[in-house]
Amino acid sequence: MRVMITGAGGMLGRHMTAECAKHDLCPVDIGDFDLADPAAVERAVASFRPEATIHCAAMTDVDGAEADPDAAFRANALGSANLARACARHCSRLIAISTDYVFSGDLDRPYHEWDETGPRTVYGRSKLAGEEAVRALCPDHLICRIAWLYGAGGPSFLHAMRKLGATDGPPVRVVADQVGNPTSAIAVARRVADLLPVPVGGVMHLSCSGEASWFDFAREIFALWKLPREAVSCASAEFPRRAPRPANSRLEKRTLRLLGLPPMPDWRDALAEFHGTGG
Ligand SMILES: NC(=O)c1ccc[n+]([C@@H]2O[C@H](COP(=O)([O-])OP(=O)(O)OC[C@H]3O[C@@H](n4cnc5c(N)ncnc54)[C@H](OP(=O)(O)O)[C@@H]3O)[C@@H](O)[C@H]2O)c1
Repeated sequence: MRVMITGAGGMLGRHMTAECAKHDLCPVDIGDFDLADPAAVERAVASFRPEATIHCAAMTDVDGAEADPDAAFRANALGSANLARACARHCSRLIAISTDYVFSGDLDRPYHEWDETGPRTVYGRSKLAGEEAVRALCPDHLICRIAWLYGAGGPSFLHAMRKLGATDGPPVRVVADQVGNPTSAIAVARRVADLLPVPVGGVMHLSCSGEASWFDFAREIFALWKLPREAVSCASAEFPRRAPRPANSRLEKRTLRLLGLPPMPDWRDALAEFHGTGG
């Protein structure tokens, strides 16, 4: 299959490129062209003529997006719209990666694919605008929402913890009042690669199974990597951020379940697998 991957140099894009290696690939990133440039996007899609396009590119700096909303909407909303229009014109299926930040995080249960969105951050609003453009402009689409991602090279929470945990100092304080699904980029890339021949559309949540607080996640990282420093729990109020973090980032994988597809791996198993790769 001819597959274009955007954001191929990013954390998820690198794993996606590796997991899709058996296909005829066209991995692209910002150095090749800017997705916000409609003519460049059209040229790239018209010349490679992908059967499927996996859209991993995004402006992912959540706090930076509050300071520079134009940059977030340029990449995440306009860039996705340009890609969706080109994919529709050249008959490419579009698999677009999205985020738990499209939700408010206020619900007291995991969010499923048909729950109402309500982003609280510029990043979340720009990603939701990207989802809406994909839905409106490319009929053959699949939107895959993920959360709490880590992968080789980072940057991610896991990489920050490994760095902090390896140094001397007082216990590392980690928030315990935000919950989500720690998610391995390997698991996401593998599942998206598996879905390439599967004719499914709409929205699909693809975070790992099981749930954890950031503190639970940190403790597992400290144990697996045998980090000498201690981790202690704290409240998110102790770590004010420019963009508010959702209290609840848990995603229910209802689409996978209703389609009878295998569940995503448990986050602890996926983390152990990642540790086994050398991280
Ligand atoms: N990381 C997470 O925890 C997380 C959680 C949920 C969902 N997601 C979603 O998962 C996807 C992959 O995330 P990631 O963490 O792998 O991101 P990443 O490492 O930041 O990679 C994104 C790539 O897209 C490129 N890019 C940005 N703007 C572009 C533009 N206008 N045109 C072309 N390329 C552009 C970036 O280039 P530069 O580096 O030069 O900007 C980067 O190489 C994104 O859709 C993200 O929203 C991530």
